[in-house]
Amino acid sequence: MKASIIENENIDGTLVLGIYEGTTEVVNDAGMAKDLKAKIETILEAGDFKAKKDTALPVIGGTEGNTLLLGLGKEDKADSSTFRNAGAKLVASKKYLGNKFTVRLPSNSNHDVLAFIEGCYLRDYKYDAYLSKDDDDSDDDIEVMIYAGEKTGSLDPEIKRIEGVTKGVFTSRDLGNCPPNDMYPMAYAQRARDMAQSYSNLDVEVINYEEALSQGMGGLIGVGKGSSRKPCMVFFKLNHKTTTGKAPTIVGKGITFDTGGISLKPGLNMDEMKYDMGGSTVVFGLMQALAETGYEGRVTGIACMAENMPSADATRPGDVLKSYSGKTIEVLNTDAEGRLVLADGLWKAGELNPEYIIDLATLTGACVIALGHEATGLWSNDDDLRQRIHDSGNEVGELAWPMPLLPAFEKQMTDSKIADVRNLGERWGGANSAAAFLKQFVPEGDDGEQIPWAHMDIAGTFWGAKTNKMVAHGATGVHVRTLHNLITKN
Ligand code: BES
Ligand code: ZN
Ligand code: ZN
Repeated sequence: MKASIIENENIDGTLVLGIYEGTTEVVNDAGMAKDLKAKIETILEAGDFKAKKDTALPVIGGTEGNTLLLGLGKEDKADSSTFRNAGAKLVASKKYLGNKFTVRLPSNSNHDVLAFIEGCYLRDYKYDAYLSKDDDDSDDDIEVMIYAGEKTGSLDPEIKRIEGVTKGVFTSRDLGNCPPNDMYPMAYAQRARDMAQSYSNLDVEVINYEEALSQGMGGLIGVGKGSSRKPCMVFFKLNHKTTTGKAPTIVGKGITFDTGGISLKPGLNMDEMKYDMGGSTVVFGLMQALAETGYEGRVTGIACMAENMPSADATRPGDVLKSYSGKTIEVLNTDAEGRLVLADGLWKAGELNPEYIIDLATLTGACVIALGHEATGLWSNDDDLRQRIHDSGNEVGELAWPMPLLPAFEKQMTDSKIADVRNLGERWGGANSAAAFLKQFVPEGDDGEQIPWAHMDIAGTFWGAKTNKMVAHGATGVHVRTLHNLITKN
């Protein structure tokens, strides 16, 4: 995929026209033959293409070449999501239209044009690592050229930035889609080390099983010890050698496969639990995106990696674990394992001088019940941080919806008879009790106050989101862009 802004009015490959609903005129008609323009306007006047948002109509032409009409919906409702979705729709509709596209949008604003380009990049993804390829399978790169008035070259840095962030999003998707027989905790660690080789300002460190044992990471160990592929914690340190001070610290749940453990999940659709490492893939992709786009600030990433398997060595319901924080946890359900590994990751984050801590986790089915696949659940102990994450997500079309941190849920999670906390709340409000559990492991800063922290439950948004236009299926890589936006715009 290569997108560029062109200044000349040539039409190369398929012509792509963005059209607002209710318009019958092609406004951005630079370089269009009169006949072709008349033909398209006849289609619009006849109402054969209503230009509703997220619709597309290919018009196959003879000597005039092919045209793709992209519906943008109503002009007064159009925003950056409209253009991002339209860019994605172009890539999704490209079958039989070749690989070269010349685009004319009705808006030439940088903001809209860049959103369109971003949509093109994000949708140009497939996970085919395990597919045998035929010799004649062509994987030609798509070329998208946008004529948008006189701005040649001026958007190159922004396009480079989109390319860098997209690279991180695709890495997150690749790791999420990778089958769990090949993607296990130490395989993730190795990929992280390999990735960091490309950037002189990014370092990866790994706490392996033995070190985790000796450091007393009872949550991580308790979840991962039932698997022959042992758990680990992976640290990403961006610009740590050249900067000092506090750093945004992002922690991810990385369960490479969640069987439920001894509290075994039902068999139906259990394969989907390979996505249970979603949070850790977002950490990985984000760190790569920040490095790739030349971010010079200090950032820390922590991935809590384990495979949740039942075995003779697995944690039982009823066991009590001693977490890295020193707090004891009564395990009432081994399927509530994400919170156990995060407990140790959050506490570790506190040792690394965090400015704030954000965790991402495919944590609860209850969050999917609450918000479907449309929004990530967002909890925070800090109103300002919550608002900034929400705003950053909105700006890039990734919704993170505020949810409550209620004392009643904290009470549920701390009323174990035999341990400091328990890993299971009552039946209702399961996403809130999970967040309330995590809050017990958010460390205090120098001021004696809990460090600003936010929890993002991506169980519904990291995968299977049919309405996410940026991806055909599988892992979405959601929030690599939100967090890249949050971190780099400040
Ligand atoms: N990984 C699951 C949560 C999940 C469910 C993610 C569906 C994506 C889609 C998590 O570890 C889990 O099993 N949570 C339990 C918690 C319960 C035992 C308190 C759940 O949500 O049922
Ligand atoms: Zn589970
Ligand atoms: Zn899980």
